[in-house]
Amino acid sequence: MDFLYEKLLRPLLFKCNPEAIHDQTISALRLLEAIPFATRLLERINLRPPGSKPVRLFGLDFPNRVGLAAGYDKHAQAWPAMAALGFGHAEIGTITLHGQDGNPRPRVFRHPPAEAIVNRYGFPNPGADVVARRLAQAPGKGVRSIPLGINIGKSKVTPLENAAKDYTGSFRLLADYADFVVVNISSPNTQNLRDLQGRALLDNLLGSLRDTARDHAAKPGAKPVPILLKIAPDLTFPQLDDVLESVCAHGLDGIIATNTTISRPPGLEHLESPGGLSGRPLLEKSLSFVRYIARSTQGRLPIIGSGGICDVEAAARFMDEGASLVQLYTGMIYRGPWFPAKVARALAWHHRDFP
Ligand SMILES: Cc1cc2nc3c(=O)[nH]c(=O)nc-3n(C[C@H](O)[C@H](O)[C@H](O)COP(=O)(O)O)c2cc1C
Repeated sequence: MDFLYEKLLRPLLFKCNPEAIHDQTISALRLLEAIPFATRLLERINLRPPGSKPVRLFGLDFPNRVGLAAGYDKHAQAWPAMAALGFGHAEIGTITLHGQDGNPRPRVFRHPPAEAIVNRYGFPNPGADVVARRLAQAPGKGVRSIPLGINIGKSKVTPLENAAKDYTGSFRLLADYADFVVVNISSPNTQNLRDLQGRALLDNLLGSLRDTARDHAAKPGAKPVPILLKIAPDLTFPQLDDVLESVCAHGLDGIIATNTTISRPPGLEHLESPGGLSGRPLLEKSLSFVRYIARSTQGRLPIIGSGGICDVEAAARFMDEGASLVQLYTGMIYRGPWFPAKVARALAWHHRDFP
C-alpha cells in the first residue's frame, strides 16, 4: 500500500496545487462518509488495533493513540471520516469567533526532499457560530466513533488585548460539541498571536477560559470539557517554564507539543518565509519539548506529541519521551491515507495496550 501511494499516486498528486488537492481530499472523505457501509467496514479494520484496549485520558476513551492534528479539517466538514482512516481522535480548526478568509494564496508549499511543508494559511474558517451549527447536525458527544477536539484561535480582527473575550466567545459557542478544546496560541501566521504565550497575557487568557468552562459545566446536562494548550516549538525553555506554571496554576488538562516552527534548520534556510514549517525537520525539536515537559512536570501533565511523525519509529519516540497520545498531519501527505492506521497498530504494540 505504501509503495502504491509513494510510487504511483503521490507523484501525480504532487504535480497539482497543494491547496486544490487538499480541498479535493476533503470532498473525497465527505463522499466516503456518505457511504456508511464503507466507513463502518474501514473503521472495523483500522480503528482498534486487534486485541488492544482503549486509552483513557482526560475522562475520554481514545480507540488508539494517534490523532489527526489541527489544520486539516479547518471547516469541520470531514472529521467523521477520520475514524475510517484509523485516527483515534480528530482535532478540527483552528476556528475563530469571527469567520475569516485567511492569508492570500499561495499559502501552502511542499518540500518533498525534506518531507516538509510550509504553510501560512492564517486560520481561514467560517467562524465559530457556523461551525457550531454544522456540528449540531453531526454525530454528538458519546455517539461518535472517535473523540472530537476543537481547536480555537484568535480572530484576525480582534486586538490582542481583547483576545480572552474572543477565545471565550468561541468556547461558549462550541463547548457543547467538543470532547476537548485546544487553545491555540502558537500558530505563526496570525500577527502577534504567539505573544499570548507571555506570562501576563497567558494567565489572563487561561483564567478567563477556566471561568467560562466552569460556567458551562454548571449548565443542566453539561459535562466538563477538558482544555489543552497548544504551544510553539520556538519558545526558549525558560519561556516554556512560565507557560507550564500557568497551565498547572489554571488546572488545564494537558498540552499539545508542538505546533509548526518559524525556524529553518540548517540546509532549509531557503524555504518560504513567513510560514510555519512542519514534517520531518520538526521532529527533533518537538521531541525535545515533550521530553522537557514530561521531566519538569514529572509526568503529571498529559502530553499529546505532534511534529514530524513521518514513520512509526518517530511516533514511538514521542511515547518514549512521555507523550500519552500523538497527532500527525504532514506525515499523511508523504506516506498516504493508510499511514494513521499503521502508526496506531505500531503504537498499540509499542505501548502494550492489551488487556
Ligand atoms: C497545512 C497545515 C495547516 C495547519 N494549520 C493549523 C491550524 O490551523 N491550527 C493549528 O493549531 N495547527 C495547525 N497546523 C499544525 C499541525 O496541527 C501540527 O501541529 C504540525 O503541523 C506538526 O505536525 P506534523 O509535522 O505532523 O504536520 C497546520 C499544519 C499544516 C501542515
